[in-house]
Amino acid sequence: QCGTDLQGRHFVITAGPTRESLDPVRYLTNHSSGKMGFALAAAAQRAGAEVTLIAGPVTLPTPASVKRIDVVDARQMQEAAERAADLCDVFIAAAAVADFRPEQVAQEKIKKTTGNDHDTLTLVKNPDIVAAIAARRERRPFTVGFAAETEKVLEHAAGKLARKKLDMIIANDVSEADSGFNSEHNRVTVIDPNGRTELPPSLKTTLAKQLIGMIAERAFPQ
Ligand code: PMT
Repeated sequence: QCGTDLQGRHFVITAGPTRESLDPVRYLTNHSSGKMGFALAAAAQRAGAEVTLIAGPVTLPTPASVKRIDVVDARQMQEAAERAADLCDVFIAAAAVADFRPEQVAQEKIKKTTGNDHDTLTLVKNPDIVAAIAARRERRPFTVGFAAETEKVLEHAAGKLARKKLDMIIANDVSEADSGFNSEHNRVTVIDPNGRTELPPSLKTTLAKQLIGMIAERAFPQ
């Protein structure tokens, strides 16, 4: 297979979950392992790109020759992404960013109160990292999102492509066994303004190479 040459190109990739604190010992998060984003970072680096990987709390080793920035919550991920995106050609948002965070972070561990069987948590919306980058007027990279869906996968993903003004979205059905969150495998459909391409279910490492090739073709047409 003829390789994609990304020499001289800079990719910024987000990966993993975000962790939103509730108090000093508790947080809200999701099941993202970072595997998809890390596989994309490794594939882009192997194709010759300079890669900055912005990672939420995950336990994966950093791919060779990739610059890694570790963050914890969505606002830290946004700050790191905005800074890194100023100098990049392609931005890929593979992270599963928490849509909401607790409005208040308690200074001390929240205690049970006697006689109280219910409690209420107020959440506020987190910034939409990929949408803010796609909305840039200047220094706007080719911007790719993922869509993790459990139903009407292609319809919801196409809606996100349009609403977030992305150049491409990669839809994954996260309701399927052995695909999506924390699996070695994934099953994705690539959607861009030209149409849809369903890729066969594969290892995330195999898919990452294919996806980087497709992104390079669209971002840097010959
Ligand atoms: O990490 P793994 O275990 O390997 O699993 C991979 C994955 C399933 C997490 C990955 O393939 C994936 O689908 N990532 C996106 C998950 C997600 O949060 O999707 P979403 O449909 O909620 O968000 C749509 C897009 O907006 C995503 O590109 C997301 O990074 C981005 N987003 C969402 C919310 C937010 N506040 N800021 C964002 O940038």
